[in-house]
Amino acid sequence: MERVASKDEARRAAAEARAEGKTIALVPTMGALHEGHLSLVRAACERADYVVVSVFVNPTQFGPGEDFETYPRDLDADLQLLAAEGVDLVFAPSAAVMYAPDASVTVDPGSLASRWEGEIRPGHFVGVATVVTKLLSIVRPDLAYFGEKDYQQLQVVRALVRDLDLGVGVVGRPIVRDRDGLALSSRNARLSPSQRQAALAIPAALEAAAQALAWGEREARALERAMFERLAGVDDLSLDYAVVVDPDTLEPLEQVESGARVLVAARIGDIHLIDNCGLEPPATPVPEGATTRE
Ligand code: PAJ
Repeated sequence: MERVASKDEARRAAAEARAEGKTIALVPTMGALHEGHLSLVRAACERADYVVVSVFVNPTQFGPGEDFETYPRDLDADLQLLAAEGVDLVFAPSAAVMYAPDASVTVDPGSLASRWEGEIRPGHFVGVATVVTKLLSIVRPDLAYFGEKDYQQLQVVRALVRDLDLGVGVVGRPIVRDRDGLALSSRNARLSPSQRQAALAIPAALEAAAQALAWGEREARALERAMFERLAGVDDLSLDYAVVVDPDTLEPLEQVESGARVLVAARIGDIHLIDNCGLEPPATPVPEGATTRE
């Protein structure tokens, strides 16, 4: 496994692989790697001949007062994990390498970025869209892998690639969870044991929405109420949003349709956690005599 820190080296290594006729996949990450990241890496290794993983805690996607400084970093451990997966190239630049001091052009992430995470973290998706565009221009992969864990980010990247004709296949991969249901996140490392317990209310709220749907409920507001109830009164938890949205436009839905997405974001102390799941209304009607939950 080769490790490079400069854009030129990364560009040259990827160009060599391309010249050899290899299919190239890129997995962008901010490091502190866990099984969620590694699931993307494994999927990339299965599909592509040459796999590039970027490890870069991108300062431009953190707002003032957010956790850029305290974001977990452990490049040595990351390199070991990536070498064990058979990754070909790790691109781990510094912020000074990535952004020239006079850099002023950014990428407008468009309408999908205005709501939800975009609203509570102003400028976040400009930072994401800009760094992803830069990484794609440097590596020029055939495929780029992203997790559904950051569902809005995945949709923003899909729109970015489509609208700017970036010519890369975007592959979305399912959320990897811990045994207790908590979605893996680098930020989980910062949760105290009691905060981690509180955080379990987030997947439990998604479960409550899915349960309400299974009981025959179709009104999005009712599913959202079920989530609020599950999240209310949880110590140290402050809810940002819990919504049922159209999976493509991310606009709130009135009625749950096939493929609808539930998005949840909450802060546990000062730790920002997000989660989501897809909804599938049951095909068969609720059995005669069954009552819906209220
Ligand atoms: P990061 O949070 O490190 O995540 C890197 C990739 O791993 C993202 O595509 C994310 O959705 C995916 N991922 C994280 N947790 C996951 C889980 N539990 N299951 C499946 N996939 C998971 O997202 C970013 O970094 C940055 O915004 C980035 C795209 C690298 C741009 O800076």
